[in-house]
Amino acid sequence: MAITDAPKIVTSRFRYDDAHTLARYEATGGYQALRKALAMPPAAVVEEVKAASLLGRGGAGFPAGVKWGFCPPGVWPRYLVVNGDESEPGTYKDRMLMERDPHQIIEGVLIASYAVGCSQAFLYVRGEMALAQERIAAALNEAYAAGYVGRNILGSEFSLDIVLHWGAGAYIVGEETALIESLEGERGMPRLKPPYFPAAKGLYLQPTIVNNIETLSNVPWIVANGAEAFSALGAETSKGTRLFAVSGHVANPGVFEVEYGVTTFRDLIYAPVYAGGIRGDRQLKAFIPGGASSPWFFEEHLDLPLEKVTVDRAGSMLGSGAIVVMDETTDAVRACHRVVRFFAAESCGKCTPCREGTTWLERILKRILDGQGRASDLELLLDVADNISPGITWPPKQTTICPLGPSAVSPVASAIRRFRHEFEAHIARNPKASGAVDATGSGAARPAALETPVPFGGHHG
Ligand SMILES: Cc1cc2nc3c(=O)[nH]c(=O)nc-3n(C[C@H](O)[C@H](O)[C@H](O)COP(=O)(O)O)c2cc1C
Ligand code: SF4
Repeated sequence: MAITDAPKIVTSRFRYDDAHTLARYEATGGYQALRKALAMPPAAVVEEVKAASLLGRGGAGFPAGVKWGFCPPGVWPRYLVVNGDESEPGTYKDRMLMERDPHQIIEGVLIASYAVGCSQAFLYVRGEMALAQERIAAALNEAYAAGYVGRNILGSEFSLDIVLHWGAGAYIVGEETALIESLEGERGMPRLKPPYFPAAKGLYLQPTIVNNIETLSNVPWIVANGAEAFSALGAETSKGTRLFAVSGHVANPGVFEVEYGVTTFRDLIYAPVYAGGIRGDRQLKAFIPGGASSPWFFEEHLDLPLEKVTVDRAGSMLGSGAIVVMDETTDAVRACHRVVRFFAAESCGKCTPCREGTTWLERILKRILDGQGRASDLELLLDVADNISPGITWPPKQTTICPLGPSAVSPVASAIRRFRHEFEAHIARNPKASGAVDATGSGAARPAALETPVPFGGHHG
């Protein structure tokens, strides 16, 4: 197993009960990176983060240093917005960072703001995260009182105000342009891109950098230890370490910091130091490798490294770093329905394929589960999925403003492709289903379209 002794970068203080306090943060090297950054020209800080190849940890994996360079020159004011809206099922790594080490985030925000040249940052925290809100607010008050935030920070010419904003519980507000709408006091709905790429036209239509909590938590370590030390860790295209939240049918669910691109899914799910294997020694049925939006993986994917490009090529994504494990007792149709129900509930309703399509998918799956399924339902599910995301390809084609709609297609395509017989068995429970298939899935009157393999997924390797 490839379990390395890579240093803990963002969870190094998790072993202390008082890691959220300024006293502990300062006693463990906190705010030294800020001092170092303030002695450098801002452009040099951007270059350092660029050289570290720090990929964004919010889902898309865009390089942070490159993004920081996107603000159009000479356009002011510009803003930094921190995305702490983490709401995808199974994802809870950012919450841990906010609860356990809020000063690390604040230091990351300070350094990023200095590098980008903004004097106002916004930290948006998901509505339900009460402890995270409490800890961040307390830490921010401490940081203001100690002169780390505010005017002329540490005697320099750099000033920054950080505004805390609590969300109201909508998953879609994690999408950066919806988050910006919400910050502006509007209903949280994604904007069209282009022209609303945040770096060009973001908050109040000014240049805005949006970064994830974990992304910014890495920044103090990179500045303190240098880009070279960071990029010495991890694989060719995935540097440093990364947090993964493992949940579902495992013995020891939790958030684990591992060397990026080196550790495998098998390590993370089975090693005693991580999730400790499947509960009750059952067999693995499937796992969601990168949050509810990602196509499911199976036994044959266990030895893939947790590396962005490899996982992309294998037909899924590491996305939000949430691994959800399903054991052999899982009903694939029920699991699929649960995930689709989430997306249907969270669709903001702005685009027809997403609003109507996710609702249809959810209703059809529900009637199949309720024993009211029809023989044509599998074909209908795939047809609706194809209307949301033409061709049901990976990466998905989009008919919608944001990727939420196509996200609902992933569980449907994954489950039908692998566990078609389970859908057929549920449908066969309905005595009125015309041309119903029998429970073995060998039904005579199956529509021709059901024989077509679901065209989902890339090459494995
Ligand atoms: C539906 C949807 C939900 C998202 N939710 C989050 C989220 O909760 N947290 C997050 O950081 N990024 C989320 N993202 C990605 C953000 O739009 C954005 O890419 C990210 O915050 C950029 O930060 P990074 O470059 O540091 O990763 C979401 C995207 C979509 C389409
Ligand atoms: S895809 Fe769905 S969630 Fe995204 S903008 Fe369209 S309707 Fe809203």
